[in-house]
Amino acid sequence: MPNRPSSRTPSSKTPRKLATYRRFRPGTQPAYNYPPYASTQKRCPTQPLVLPPQTLSEITGPVFGAGDLKPTDNDLTRQHKGDPIGERIVVSGRVLDENGKPVPHTLVEIWQANAAGRYPHRTDQHNAPLDPNFSGAGRTLTDAEGRYRFITIRPGEYPWRNHYNAWRPAHIHFSLFGQAFLTRMVTQMYFPGDPLLPYDPMFTCIENEAARNRLVSTFDWENTIPEQALGYRFDIVLRGREETPMEKMP
Ligand SMILES: [Fe+2]
Repeated sequence: MPNRPSSRTPSSKTPRKLATYRRFRPGTQPAYNYPPYASTQKRCPTQPLVLPPQTLSEITGPVFGAGDLKPTDNDLTRQHKGDPIGERIVVSGRVLDENGKPVPHTLVEIWQANAAGRYPHRTDQHNAPLDPNFSGAGRTLTDAEGRYRFITIRPGEYPWRNHYNAWRPAHIHFSLFGQAFLTRMVTQMYFPGDPLLPYDPMFTCIENEAARNRLVSTFDWENTIPEQALGYRFDIVLRGREETPMEKMP
C-alpha cells in the first residue's frame, strides 16, 4: 500500500543546536536491490549514493499537536457504529532516539488490513470481505516518556503477486516523524511466530538478522486486557546504530 500522506506542513521553530548522529550499520536496512523483492529492481539506484552533509534543515521538521487528534483515533475498534470483526489486540511501545532516550509528544500513525486481509482502498482487489466497521487507520501522540498505545484488530495476511503463492505476513504499517526530517520513519510491525516471515522478501531483504527481528513485536502479557485483547509490544528507534529498519529504502 502507498504511504499515508500527512495533511500538515512543517512549522518553523527556534533552531536547535546542530548535532551529528551515527548512521546505521551496513546490512541493517533493506537492500536497495533485492531480486526476490521484484519492484526493488525497478527503483534501486544505479549509481553510488552521495551522502549530503548534515545541515540545519535535517534537525527541523513537522510538528503535530493534540489538536490534530480525535478521541477515537488510537482505538480502531471504536471508529464506527458497530464492532469490527476479528481479534482485538493492544499494540504499544516506546519511540526512542539514537541514544535510547524517549521521543515525547510525537505523532505515530498506523494503517493496516482488516481481519480478512483487505484494505478499504480502491487499488486493493483482494477477494476478501471489507468490514464496514473497520477503516484500519489510526494516529496518536507519544506521552512524555515516548509511549504510544493503540487498540485495533489483528490484521489478516494477504496475497501480493510478487512471486508464486506470495502472501504478506500479518503486519501493521507505521509512520513517524520524530523531531526532524531525518527521523522520518515508515516501517512495518510483524507478529511473533508468523510462519510467513521466512518467505517474505520485504522482511528478508534486511540482511542483518538482529536488525530484521527488530520489526517483530513481542507478546506483551502486562498490556494484555483480561477477556478483551492480547497485547503486543513494538519499540521503535528513529535513528542511529539501533535504528528500526525502514519498510523499504527509497
Ligand atoms: Fe500492508
